[in-house]
Amino acid sequence: MTSAAEPSLAVVVLGASRGIGRAIARVAARDGYPVVLVARSADDLAAAAAEITASGGKALTMALDLAAPEASSRLEAFLAESGLACGILVNSAGYGLRGAVTALSAEEQLGIIDVNIRALADMTLRFLPGMVARRSGGIINLGSIAGFTPGPYMTFYYASKNFVRSFSAALHKEVRGFGVTVTCVAPGPVSTDFLEKSGADRAALFKVLPKLDADYVAEQAWRGFKSGRRLVIPGLSSKLTAIVARLLPTAAALSLIGLVQRRSKDPRPYPSQTGVK
Ligand SMILES: NC(=O)c1ccc[n+]([C@@H]2O[C@H](COP(=O)([O-])OP(=O)(O)OC[C@H]3O[C@@H](n4cnc5c(N)ncnc54)[C@H](OP(=O)(O)O)[C@@H]3O)[C@@H](O)[C@H]2O)c1
Repeated sequence: MTSAAEPSLAVVVLGASRGIGRAIARVAARDGYPVVLVARSADDLAAAAAEITASGGKALTMALDLAAPEASSRLEAFLAESGLACGILVNSAGYGLRGAVTALSAEEQLGIIDVNIRALADMTLRFLPGMVARRSGGIINLGSIAGFTPGPYMTFYYASKNFVRSFSAALHKEVRGFGVTVTCVAPGPVSTDFLEKSGADRAALFKVLPKLDADYVAEQAWRGFKSGRRLVIPGLSSKLTAIVARLLPTAAALSLIGLVQRRSKDPRPYPSQTGVK
């Protein structure tokens, strides 16, 4: 029996205002979990919550900049005030930037570390101990096929996703014995705003790869997590790309990825990623 004082367990989705995170939130709500939707864009979060409530689910929203150092303590306080604890954490917030490291803004590139790496690690440190103590739940981390190699001209993004893959795999091993799952989801290109915002849609590499649907990625992610998988690579094209990326010698991968990511006939400057859209 659950006592009245015990918090309810929620699925907390970071990066839930759009794209893959929003799609995973819908799937979790459909499975009967209360969901907490987190991102910066309050209006988009409200629209995502309305979508879930209209389908009979329960959703709360919190507008939060995950690059802020106090983000995880603020989120934990919000959950406690709402009578909730984080049963399952979905780290889907993230962004990338295409271009030479010397041409891109230093601040925006360092922001990739803040959001894709630091916030993900900080949230993990904050919520994983509770999951281990309860011996249930876990974390879904959005990696990428970019996490299997270094990636010239999208250097910070690939490096951040290499961290996510390595971190998630090691954690999976550490906590599996406690009934807790950490799953890394590593898709190839997905049809979301990410591709245009990062400038990846103008790179030859991303143009040739088929685009996955965010709902499909969300279903695969959720199913893989529920079955205790360490790594989920949604779709055949992503699986094949990951195999090639793992087999290629590093020098060959650097030459190939450097070539296809640098070449672009589109003269538009690389987009800015700062601030709420
Ligand atoms: N789309 C792809 O091709 C692809 C492929 C492989 C992996 N991924 C990964 O999948 C994840 C989700 O990507 P997506 O395709 O869904 O991208 P998206 O549509 O651009 O969504 C990104 C999400 O991250 C949130 N976010 C970004 N910076 C934030 C910050 N400082 N604080 C709080 N929230 C922040 C955004 O919300 P706000 O802007 O409202 O804050 C948004 O909800 C990312 O980690 C991405 O690297 C994407």
